[in-house]
Amino acid sequence: MLSLREPVPISHTQRCPASLLTIALKGTSSHKVRSAMSTMKAVRAHKRGGPEVLRYEDAPVPEVGANEVLVEVNAAAVTPGELAWDETWQSADGADRTPIIPSHEFSGVIAQVGGDVRSLTPGTQVYGLIDFNHDGAAAEYVSLPQEGVVPRPVRLSHVESAALPLAALTAWQALADRARVQPGERVFIQGGAGGVGSLAVQFAKALGAEVTATAIDDDVPLVKTLGAAGVVPSVSAARSRGEPLFDVLLNTFGGPVPVESYGLVRPGGRLVTLAQPLDQSMAERHGIQGIFFVVASDPGELRRITDLAEQGKLRPVIARTLPLADASIAYGPPPAPRRPG
Ligand SMILES: NC(=O)c1ccc[n+]([C@@H]2O[C@H](COP(=O)([O-])OP(=O)(O)OC[C@H]3O[C@@H](n4cnc5c(N)ncnc54)[C@H](OP(=O)(O)O)[C@@H]3O)[C@@H](O)[C@H]2O)c1
Repeated sequence: MLSLREPVPISHTQRCPASLLTIALKGTSSHKVRSAMSTMKAVRAHKRGGPEVLRYEDAPVPEVGANEVLVEVNAAAVTPGELAWDETWQSADGADRTPIIPSHEFSGVIAQVGGDVRSLTPGTQVYGLIDFNHDGAAAEYVSLPQEGVVPRPVRLSHVESAALPLAALTAWQALADRARVQPGERVFIQGGAGGVGSLAVQFAKALGAEVTATAIDDDVPLVKTLGAAGVVPSVSAARSRGEPLFDVLLNTFGGPVPVESYGLVRPGGRLVTLAQPLDQSMAERHGIQGIFFVVASDPGELRRITDLAEQGKLRPVIARTLPLADASIAYGPPPAPRRPG
């Protein structure tokens, strides 16, 4: 997580769910001064590459279109893979976009609104998800269409709010929209301490499911606190417990779905993956529905996520917070080695 103005103590855990890294932005400017300033501090890349091409430098304050808002960024979250995606470097028509600004989830305060914006006003605290082929929020200011911002959960800090949009929308859409989890169903989350997984555990619980998740030993207390009734080190450990099969399995980690995962879902159940499409022939063999999807920005669902957070039903897990000037560190390897769950 990157934070400009609100560095907070980090992590509930030594482990580092990478997508919940926050960049803290530190500054002194007020949202009233925008019109007088033409430059801001930002993290930019002038050529395609990894963390080594990111520069902390002066950049123009973004223009605000008629349908856009300018947000003074308090915190921005990092999606570790984004520097490897074409969308980060190209506009929708495939044209080179460099120099680019990364980091596409943020929390901040509206500084200025375009002429066609009616329902949002300067001073409103908002958060949101920015299209990946648009400049991101690793900067003091970001502009984006008004549809992309929603009032943030003020029960949470800016750093916690910035950790939510992408991971929470992914977890919510996986469980509520795609798997259609019903109260009383048994849900298995593979990677319960990860960025998406830690929120998926909480959503599954909020949807009335009985949740089991994988996590390494160090993360077991955290994942139980988030709402998992059972925490196991691996799928095979879950199978060897001899419990009933699961109605829904959500695989939150990268790479192919482990073969054993298919056998953990009851016939007629749903297996959802995020990193890559699953093996449909294997899903058919087990008589289960295999679902792969890509998260979509959805202001209505983000408002629902705000409500859950305001009700205290959602707790983002922040791995660490860095000042904006050190943003390149957030795009490097995570500080702890990965271990299978
Ligand atoms: N389809 C979409 O729209 C969408 C949206 C968002 C994210 N994603 C993808 O979803 C994946 C997860 O994202 P994230 O931000 O949640 O990542 P993350 O924070 O790195 O979390 C990954 C989790 O998976 C666990 N894990 C990793 N390898 C494992 C293995 N072999 N066996 C068991 N558990 C394992 C990790 O456990 P440890 O912490 O113990 O290592 C961690 O808890 C990424 O591949 C991301 O690209 C897709």
